[in-house]
Amino acid sequence: MPIKEEYLRRNRTLWNTLRDVLKDEYEEYLRYITSPIYRPYIRANTLKITPEALKERLLAKGFVLEGTVLPYAFRVLHYPSEMGKTLEHFLGYYYVQDLASMLPAHILSPKPHSYVLDIAAAPGSKTTLLCALMENTGMVFANDASMDRVRALVNNVERMGCLNVVVSIYRGERLVRFYREYYDYVLVDAPCSSIGTLHKNPEVALWWSPKDVRVYSRVQYRLLLAGWEMLKPGGRLVYSTCTLTYQENEDVVEEFLRVSGARLVPVPDVGIGEVDGGIPGTKRFYPHRTATEGFFIALFEK
Ligand SMILES: C[S@@+](CC[C@H](N)C(=O)[O-])C[C@H]1O[C@@H](n2cnc3c(N)ncnc32)[C@H](O)[C@@H]1O
Repeated sequence: MPIKEEYLRRNRTLWNTLRDVLKDEYEEYLRYITSPIYRPYIRANTLKITPEALKERLLAKGFVLEGTVLPYAFRVLHYPSEMGKTLEHFLGYYYVQDLASMLPAHILSPKPHSYVLDIAAAPGSKTTLLCALMENTGMVFANDASMDRVRALVNNVERMGCLNVVVSIYRGERLVRFYREYYDYVLVDAPCSSIGTLHKNPEVALWWSPKDVRVYSRVQYRLLLAGWEMLKPGGRLVYSTCTLTYQENEDVVEEFLRVSGARLVPVPDVGIGEVDGGIPGTKRFYPHRTATEGFFIALFEK
């Protein structure tokens, strides 16, 4: 039995929660996430190199890459050396990042010269993509509550050559008093119980509990509301998590919609097999369908 299935079996509550979410797709999902084959993705850092030039350099080193729906992202079918230890990685030519994790920033799609708030930003995978999409113009205010994780955020911001980032260490909820209706775009990539990452991080099954879900859902709601208050009228906000429970996704969005009067904008189709979430217009990414981490994305306009 692959170790990951054993991990999962040890946590009956998680097992049952996943069954409830995935219903008759559960077995297929389980086969996928317990498979020993894990194919990561990388994102070319267009601030420093074109996707074509990156591909050429990595192919010369023995990497095997496959294109994806995003012009700057590749799936890595084979890598001869650790992906985080190549010269190209050191130089900030690419970021190792799951395809689904690129989508919140891609869908938010901030225009150059705009002001963007990334309210829970560390270690910066989405911050650095936002910068690339904005071609290093405007400002990305990258905030996170964890000092430890902000160290990694700062390293990544520097490595990727992002010049338009302000880093802050604060509880996102508390930023409201300084920045009411200040940002053109807000990303709320909320802390979550991380079920969507089980394939890569099977140890999630060792700590996950329904209590985490309850606690995270409150933080998520508060961050979403705070993000909304900091968004300018006419601005757009993306709410995303890498988890699959309804309590941390649809329930949070439903409560938020009731209180805020926000307008939900349908998440554009990405075309990788994502399905509609429990609230029309939101999207769920199931690993066995999309060959990515599990994700949830909702988009709002003020
Ligand atoms: C899903 S991770 C963010 C990943 C990041 N957006 C990326 O793509 O690299 C969630 C983050 O929320 C942070 N966090 C937890 N509670 C927070 C709060 N109240 N305010 C701001 N950040 C918080 C955690 O430290 C963690 O780094």
